[in-house]
Amino acid sequence: MSEIRVESSGFGSTLPWNTIKQRIVELEYECFGKDAFSPSELRLAFNGRDSLVVLLWDGPSEGGTLIGYTQAQPADAHETYYIANTAIAKSYQGRGLVKLLMDKLYADVRTAGARFIERDAAIPNGYADKIVRFHAAEVLETFDHDSPYGPQRFIRMRVPES
Ligand SMILES: CC(C)(COP(=O)(O)OP(=O)(O)OC[C@H]1O[C@@H](n2cnc3c(N)ncnc32)[C@H](O)[C@@H]1OP(=O)(O)O)[C@@H](O)C(=O)NCCC(=O)NCCS
Repeated sequence: MSEIRVESSGFGSTLPWNTIKQRIVELEYECFGKDAFSPSELRLAFNGRDSLVVLLWDGPSEGGTLIGYTQAQPADAHETYYIANTAIAKSYQGRGLVKLLMDKLYADVRTAGARFIERDAAIPNGYADKIVRFHAAEVLETFDHDSPYGPQRFIRMRVPES
């Protein structure tokens, strides 16, 4: 593993969608299989006017490998961003990299002026439990529900302090 780093790609970043779209679609299918967002859904989500995107790279953004991403957009609730998607390449999972990715997203959400985060996280793979455990101090509300993607937990929380 070379240098792993995160990079914000929202706020009018100079990194054009065209240079990363193929890899984002690839990672999305690798991580979510039949439940993956389609390429056009991903394009809309990543290029939304107020969308925040954080990319995880192994190596530099030119010549390195894109190994993960997370993306959030303003939610209906006041001062709230909704995290719509988070994925890390299978060969890089289990190394604690999600914290790197999410800490950067939380910082960007704060910079955008929001104080709250919402998301729906998968229950069967244990990710919802991990988020709630890790963010016990910030979680304000949770409820479990069914979705086309299987059982999920809605989580509303304060944006953690950096
Ligand atoms: C979900 C996913 C991004 C997590 O990445 P990962 O590499 O498996 O997880 P990591 O090794 O980085 O670490 C997980 C740990 O980080 C902790 N953590 C720290 N900050 C966290 C944060 N902001 N959010 C979630 N977990 C966090 C967790 O508590 C967990 O601790 P534990 O496993 O020691 O109990 C990854 O498994 C993945 O892409 N899965 C497939 C797609 C998917 O399910 N995405 C989520 C959709 S809801």
